[in-house]
Amino acid sequence: MLYNKSAVYIGIVILVILLTSPFWVGLFGHNYTSTGITTPKDQATCIENADFMRAQHMRLLNEWRDKALRDETRTYVATDGKKWEISLQNTCMRCHTNYKSFCEKCHLSNSVSPYCWTCHIIPTEGK
Ligand code: HEC
Ligand code: HEC
Ligand code: HEC
Repeated sequence: MLYNKSAVYIGIVILVILLTSPFWVGLFGHNYTSTGITTPKDQATCIENADFMRAQHMRLLNEWRDKALRDETRTYVATDGKKWEISLQNTCMRCHTNYKSFCEKCHLSNSVSPYCWTCHIIPTEGK
């Protein structure tokens, strides 16, 4: 009897986890680890940590654009206090030199296509 009861409880727990999984994914960020992207090997970290970047880089880029265009601020202060020039081209793409094997690879596998590159320049070949 006891055995059956705990089986039911375990079943309920599993069900709850499954039903709330979109919430957990939202909380901890998406898992894009299977996309086979290459991150810069000569740099230790991104502007913010990798988890934040993975989940929030679109929002960060929007914030950057607004800062540059509305506030005319060209400096971003990261969580760790480090200062960065606000520039898609000169900051992001200077480290992530290979657009194809980084940004584009992950976007393709997630069916996203940012429309930025009609105006901004796509770096063609990383070294
Ligand atoms: C100083 C070099 C540098 C700059 C500047 C930089 N990155 Fe990164 N980025 C990295 C490194 C190194 C990693 C891998 C970090 C890790 O794995 O801990 C990374 C990771 C990322 C990731 C997560 C990739 C993954 O592991 O899933 C995204 C997304 C990203 N960067 C986007 C950007 C964007 C957008 C910008 C500009 C706003 C930017 N990066 C600027 C070096 C940089
Ligand atoms: C690890 C995977 C991954 C990498 C690497 C990555 N992105 Fe993304 N990006 C995404 C996903 C997934 C979305 C859509 C997420 C959403 O809408 O919530 C996205 C959305 C965006 C958007 C918003 C597009 C829109 O139409 O709303 C921009 C801009 C963007 N990425 C720029 C970049 C740039 C620039 C780089 C390279 C420096 C990069 N991303 C690297 C996964 C990635
Ligand atoms: C219609 C053309 C156009 C499109 C499309 C566009 N931008 Fe821009 N963006 C501009 C212009 C013009 C500036 C101002 C450049 C300056 O003043 O240096 C700018 C500035 C920025 C800046 C701050 C300064 C810099 O040099 O990086 C960021 C970040 C940025 N855009 C990100 C994006 C992202 C991300 C997308 C796609 C989601 C995008 N833009 C789409 C035209 C565009």
